[in-house]
Amino acid sequence: MSFQLSDESKKQIEEIFKRYPHKRAATLPILHVIQKEHGYIPEEAEPFVAELVEEPPVKIREVILFYTMFQTKPIGKYHFQVCHTVSCWLRGAKEIIEHLENRLNIKSGETSDDQKFTITEVECLGACEIAPMMQLNDDYIGPLTREKIDEILEKLQ
Ligand code: FES
Repeated sequence: MSFQLSDESKKQIEEIFKRYPHKRAATLPILHVIQKEHGYIPEEAEPFVAELVEEPPVKIREVILFYTMFQTKPIGKYHFQVCHTVSCWLRGAKEIIEHLENRLNIKSGETSDDQKFTITEVECLGACEIAPMMQLNDDYIGPLTREKIDEILEKLQ
């Protein structure tokens, strides 16, 4: 199946190319545009991006796999990205992840059957001062407690 993008996303990509003298440098912003439209980076997008930035598809694959912010499969409407790096881990990230898993009835790395929730463990998000923390869609939230998670879930249910 060939890869499709909306006219709006195509326009954004044109604008991105105007800002970067080297096509390769546009790889990350282009991947962001694709993820914004699709919710993840479909496999068919890799040769599409490779052609745009004039790089081999394997390079695009490497970039996607290197950055945890890029998703390679569809994710839920609410994406809990819980930091599990040292500062957050020492302040209880493990308990937070377990609590989320129990409440949502899915394991870390999984999406609920109704496509509503995904839990992902990620590396330091640069917000160690609010450890333990997570990114919920576009928002950084912390310090997290079980009670705080319960409050958030109540609002989202
Ligand atoms: S260690 Fe969790 S945000 Fe830095």
